[in-house]
Amino acid sequence: MSPHASDPTRRAVLGGAAGLTVAAIAGCGPGQAAEQTDEGPFTVAAADIPVGGGKVFKDRATVVTQPNPGEFHAFSAKCTHRGCLVRDIAKGKILCPCHGSAFAVADGSVVLGPAEQPLAARTVTVAGAELRIS
Ligand code: FES
Repeated sequence: MSPHASDPTRRAVLGGAAGLTVAAIAGCGPGQAAEQTDEGPFTVAAADIPVGGGKVFKDRATVVTQPNPGEFHAFSAKCTHRGCLVRDIAKGKILCPCHGSAFAVADGSVVLGPAEQPLAARTVTVAGAELRIS
């Protein structure tokens, strides 16, 4: 066996490790990059919106809520603090993952800062079993 016989294997291992490092860096901070969104009108099924909560439509940068049965609201999902997209809804609050602001599902008002302004309202038109957001 020559003294270099193990080199190709060693290079492959090192190359593989370098590839993993690049992949790890590229995968760093998902959600931190600029989001591609379409904020034009769209339609959702009313049945998809939980009562007492809501749903975030990330690709539409919109949150649709139903605080009480049959009462629907829609808001921009862009946090009024620094523009991150809100991500989750829990216990009647719309939550921003960036710095912890929370907004009420009933009216988009600030429940917890650092945001100081409510989420911008969008228009919801109920059409049978569907909601048109504009
Ligand atoms: S951007 Fe939402 S809390 Fe800062």
